[in-house]
Amino acid sequence: MASRLNSKIVIVGGGISGIAAAQRLVKAGFHHVRILEATSRCGGRIKTGRLGDSLVEIGANWIHGPSQENPVFCLARQYGLLEPEALTPENQAMDIAGHPPWVPAFYSSSGQKLNAEDVVPAIELFAELLDQSSEFQNQKGEPFPSVGDFICTQVRQQAEEKWKDTDLATKSLRLCMISNMLKVECCVNGAHSMNEVGLGAFGQYKTLPGLDCTFPGGYEGLIKNLMLELPDGLVTYNMPVRCIHWNNSERTDNPVMLECDSGEKISADHVIVTVPLGYLKMHHSTMFQPPLPLHKLHSVQRLGFGTNNKIFVEFDVPWWDAQCEVIYLVWEDEDDMVDQFPDIQRSWIKKLFGFTVLKPTERYGHVLCGWIAGHESEYMETLSEQEVTQAVTQLIRRFTGNPTVTPTRILRSQWFHDPWTYGSYSHLGNGCSEQDLDNMMEPLPPKGSQSQPNQVLFAGEATHPCYFSTVHGALLTGWREADRLISYYSSINPSEAFKSKL
Ligand SMILES: Cc1cc2nc3c(=O)[nH]c(=O)nc-3n(C[C@H](O)[C@H](O)[C@H](O)COP(=O)(O)OP(=O)(O)OC[C@H]3O[C@@H](n4cnc5c(N)ncnc54)[C@H](O)[C@@H]3O)c2cc1C
Ligand SMILES: *[C@@H]1O[C@H](CO)[C@@H](O)[C@H](O)[C@H]1NC(C)=O
Repeated sequence: MASRLNSKIVIVGGGISGIAAAQRLVKAGFHHVRILEATSRCGGRIKTGRLGDSLVEIGANWIHGPSQENPVFCLARQYGLLEPEALTPENQAMDIAGHPPWVPAFYSSSGQKLNAEDVVPAIELFAELLDQSSEFQNQKGEPFPSVGDFICTQVRQQAEEKWKDTDLATKSLRLCMISNMLKVECCVNGAHSMNEVGLGAFGQYKTLPGLDCTFPGGYEGLIKNLMLELPDGLVTYNMPVRCIHWNNSERTDNPVMLECDSGEKISADHVIVTVPLGYLKMHHSTMFQPPLPLHKLHSVQRLGFGTNNKIFVEFDVPWWDAQCEVIYLVWEDEDDMVDQFPDIQRSWIKKLFGFTVLKPTERYGHVLCGWIAGHESEYMETLSEQEVTQAVTQLIRRFTGNPTVTPTRILRSQWFHDPWTYGSYSHLGNGCSEQDLDNMMEPLPPKGSQSQPNQVLFAGEATHPCYFSTVHGALLTGWREADRLISYYSSINPSEAFKSKL
């Protein structure tokens, strides 16, 4: 009889979702669990790198909403990976709704430091409209196809009235600031343009309370600690899976067969697929035999998966104020509210909204992190490090009005050109709904077909109904799919359910 002791489970992908699934299955008494990972390391989009002597995060940086309900926070606390400040009740209770209260500075393309009073009204209006964008959930139809369309239309309507006593130059500057905020949101959402982020389902994404915090010893510490709970040899590295043959009625003992790039064939009772949505978009047609059912395929295509990259820039001496935490670069020729640049080769750098400041200075020295999303970001990845350095140096010299500012070192991420990811993280594109995420997580064979049990299960960031695009979302989906198998074996083998509860 099928049981936890002899059931073979293969997990495709060793990111946080795959590791979380393995950890839970092993804990529940499954003996034949293995992870096949395409690369030579685990962690996937959790990836800590080095800039000189400092640790920098190439992938995930923050725990978004670090509080009791966040499993990443709870694990990081348990493993002792967080600073005392992050653990305080005050920090956990802070409700920032996804927008940390960073101390900002604003620079303009004519080399001026801007007065906050001039641009803050634009930021407040933008924040208000972004909040409203979440309120079209469960309404019949959406008044605009995208968050970008909604925000720009509203700004055009309201700015006239709201800022009627403001001089023309300041009014124009505020519209330029709106362009900047749109670029920020492209980074937050991992989208090319806010015109590609659907309005109807924007409220689907949920935040947790807590002031976002980081891992002083690197995010990969979380992966290392989780791996210590797994038996040695559970992960096979450099083992990309090429095709998953499922629904194999001839060999009822092992209904699934995985074919690896190496030519190796591995049979299994269950497969948990955790590859990124970007990879699925690119390879679904060769990855599944028989192919994905149409409703699932359409959701893979409809959901958005865009690029957000970081460019770390180090200086000998800072050109920003000591208390500054985020620097916005406002182009004075962008009062038409734009967040995309067709003339990519010449204008790609205009998509970089600005920099966050790595703190504390004692740990990092004087390091900024530039943020750039979309096709402009994908183009940036094709340039040499030298070309990127030159563009960023020119940009900073222009906005500071200081022709001598020179970075000492630079390091950028290249998530679009990562063949196992093809981008950064997922968002709900035009016309998407909650149903698309439900379809993403639905196991094969699909509902309604007679054959049980589930053969192919789906986890990963892009399969979480409300925490997609995050580490905690990814972790929860790994646990969810492990639980699906655990409850299946409990239902066919109640005595084992009893044993595992002991
Ligand atoms: C720049 C950037 C910044 C981010 N910042 C944050 C942040 O601050 N906070 C936050 O919560 N989240 C952040 N995220 C998102 C977060 O990193 C991801 O949501 C999460 O790590 C995804 O985990 P996963 O297990 O779903 O996928 P992944 O980590 O991508 O794991 C998938 C694994 O599958 C492997 N794989 C792919 N194809 C195959 C194949 N054919 N065969 C075998 N293996 C394969 C890959 O190599 C990879 O290891 C960020 C992401 C990026 C890119
Ligand atoms: C799965 O196999 C059964 C039995 O051979 C067949 O009837 C069914 O059409 C197959 N499903 C898919 C999606 O290929």
